[in-house]
Amino acid sequence: MKYEFSERLKKLPPYLFVRLEEMTAKKRAEGADVIDFGIGDPDLPTPRPIVEALQREVADPANHNYSSSAGEKSLRDAVAEWYGKRFGVEVDPDTEVCVTLGSKEAIFNIAQSFVNPGETIIAPSPGYPVYSAASTIFNEAVCVKVPLRAEKDWLLDVGECPKGAKMLYANYPNNPTGATCDVRYLKKVQDWCRDNGTIFCYDNAYSEMCFDGYMAPSALEAGKDCIEFGSFSKTFNMTGYRLGYAVGHRDLIAGLKKCKGQIDSGAPKFVQKAGIVALGLYGDDGRLPKEVSDNMAVYSERRQVLVDGLRKLGFDVKMPKATFYVWFDCGMPSFDFTAKMIEKGLVVTPGVGFGESAEGYVRMTVTQPVERIKEALERMA
Ligand SMILES: Cc1ncc(COP(=O)(O)O)c(C=O)c1O
Repeated sequence: MKYEFSERLKKLPPYLFVRLEEMTAKKRAEGADVIDFGIGDPDLPTPRPIVEALQREVADPANHNYSSSAGEKSLRDAVAEWYGKRFGVEVDPDTEVCVTLGSKEAIFNIAQSFVNPGETIIAPSPGYPVYSAASTIFNEAVCVKVPLRAEKDWLLDVGECPKGAKMLYANYPNNPTGATCDVRYLKKVQDWCRDNGTIFCYDNAYSEMCFDGYMAPSALEAGKDCIEFGSFSKTFNMTGYRLGYAVGHRDLIAGLKKCKGQIDSGAPKFVQKAGIVALGLYGDDGRLPKEVSDNMAVYSERRQVLVDGLRKLGFDVKMPKATFYVWFDCGMPSFDFTAKMIEKGLVVTPGVGFGESAEGYVRMTVTQPVERIKEALERMA
């Protein structure tokens, strides 16, 4: 028996990292010492209090049954409280918050919930691949990729976006460019979306990964005509736990909850309870707790070493104010550069994998210790 993929699945491009993983595995199989700056997965451990909470909660039989796809009330309350402390925004935990299985599924499911066949989705290019691939293809929607440009600080310009689109995705702090924005910018995007009947989806997965005193804003600071996706993944080194949250307009949250009700039965209760402890690490002033700022200090040092080293090698690199990505013009087609790096046992991500308009750029993630970064720079030289 042979099984054939659905037409939609056939249209889905291979997920970028799958191809990179194959190339890397081949190099490793040849015995090479590979230094991986590819995927955005923190190498540092989850803070102790969160791990201890998880251990405690998983041992409690009360946490062994289904949660709800909207999430535990106690975690929704904690998310609402955290929004108040961190962004000064009041949200109703029952109607304006939904717990998610990491932010990725919600970024996809929001399109499932609101986009009809033939409608337009605006996706930044470069951008997180889910916006233009799964979100578009599984809804038989039309994706308009709007280029982000270095000369505009990689900010999506709504002046370049088509009117009448059903949905717009934006993401700052940005993967892959490391670009950041302020509330004024978010207000401009939100106003444009409201004026044009477009659903504003704001991907804030890196909101807490900021450097040098910068604190990323929430799109809700500009108003509630939006839905925002946040994540425990990068903030607390919890990528494997699969926990996130969506916060925003009650209609959008209601649609997401209805969709998820058919698809998942909620994040494990013990993971959600660990999530409550994670958010509780923040004090009333909303500043980063020590557990998170210590991690950020590690990334900051690595970022400095990598950026300084790349500059010495002649690359024009901007120091990112947020995320753990270093993004730069590699001076040649980005896949050629990536292939050369793999030859040297280094994994970097070609910009073209995030969108055609990022051709010529590459992304390196600072998830390697300083010594390994120095070694990588030597190999690059
Ligand atoms: C921009 C962006 N959004 C969302 C995600 C999804 O993260 P998670 O599903 O772990 O919350 C990622 C992961 O790398 C990302 O880079």
